[in-house]
Formats: sequence, C-alpha cells, structure tokens
Amino acid sequence: MAITERPTRRDLLSKSAALGVVVASAPLTIAEAIAGWEQREQGVRKPTAWDEIGPFYKRSAPHTATLLRNGDPGLPLQVAGRVYGTGGEVLQGATIEVWQADHFGHYDLDGYSYRATLIADGNGAYRFDSMMPGHYPGRVCQHIHYLVQAPGHKPLTTQLYFATDPVFEGDPDRNYTRDPLIQSRELVRPVALAGDPKDIHAAVTFEIVLERI
Ligand SMILES: [Fe+2]
Repeated sequence: MAITERPTRRDLLSKSAALGVVVASAPLTIAEAIAGWEQREQGVRKPTAWDEIGPFYKRSAPHTATLLRNGDPGLPLQVAGRVYGTGGEVLQGATIEVWQADHFGHYDLDGYSYRATLIADGNGAYRFDSMMPGHYPGRVCQHIHYLVQAPGHKPLTTQLYFATDPVFEGDPDRNYTRDPLIQSRELVRPVALAGDPKDIHAAVTFEIVLERI
C-alpha cells in the first residue's frame, strides 16, 4: 500500500507560488519568504556569512541613523533589519557599525561621512538612511560594510550587496560570483522602491544572525 506523505509547508507554498496563488511582497522572494517562515517555526537561524572587513574601517563612527549629507547626489537608500542569535532570539543592544563609499565611490577617510554606529533597539531592530553606494576601482560590486557585535557572541564582519547592482545584469543568482569577495548569495539583498513619487528611495532589509561564543 502506498504511503501518502503529508505535503510540507515548503511544498504547499512552492506550488501555490508556481500557480500564482501567493505572491511574496517586495523585498522578499518566494524562496526567502519560505525560508524565513521555516526558520521562525524552528526557532533557528543560520549565522550571517562572514565577509572581509576591507581597508577603510575607522573606529568610533558617530551614533547616527543618517549617513548622508544634505544635497548629496545619488539614490536615497534606507536599510533596516534586526540582529538575532542563532536560536532566533533578538539581540537587543547589539552594536552595528556600518561604512560605505558615497555615490561616487569615495570613502571619507578624513571624517565620518557615510559611517555610523547603531544600537539595536528592544526588538533587535536597526535602521539607517543613506545613499546607494557607488562602484570604486578594485571592487566589482556596490556594497556596505558591517561590523556587528553583541555580548556573548562572535563579532561579525560582513558586507551587504544589492540585487539591482548592474554587475549582476538582473540575475544575481547566476552572476553574484562576478565579485570574488561575495562569500554568499544570501548577502545579495533584494531592493524595493518605496516612498511617494516625489521622494522615491530604495529600501533593503538585512537581518544579521550572530553565533554564540
Ligand atoms: Fe568597501
């Protein structure tokens, strides 16, 4: 007698997505939505992939959620996310340092433009307003550097990349290895356009998961 297995949630959601019955809202893909759902149900999260710290880190960046200066050119960008432990717990008070090039691909080495220190709030959440970073010689893709620390957890250096980067030619799944420093496809995040027509900005979600020491 054939044993009929119950379909998994992944099966059901994948088939529903294929039929167009469910659609993930930006900036999630169906695969990411399913993965996120399963992770929540299991209460476990995969640690965020490491990436190089690079040569332009500076200590003691200011505590601000606004990285851009008034009048700066470029595409306004809002990045938000939460910091978790691998057990799914939010890491309130985690320190998130971010630094990036400006629209023209320049790092501010004299001051602290496009550099910030953020503290995860009571829900483990962080958010900052910036500008889409430019490309610069020696690096293939647009990126934002992160150094994330929380008591009892291993410090993490990583980098956030953008699925809209022209280098990927619309297919980051296939082309993310064009930048040899991209350690994981999961670091390349979907980009949504948000805001009203007169004030459009790019919006990206980047969750961080730290391993326990
Ligand atoms: Fe960089």
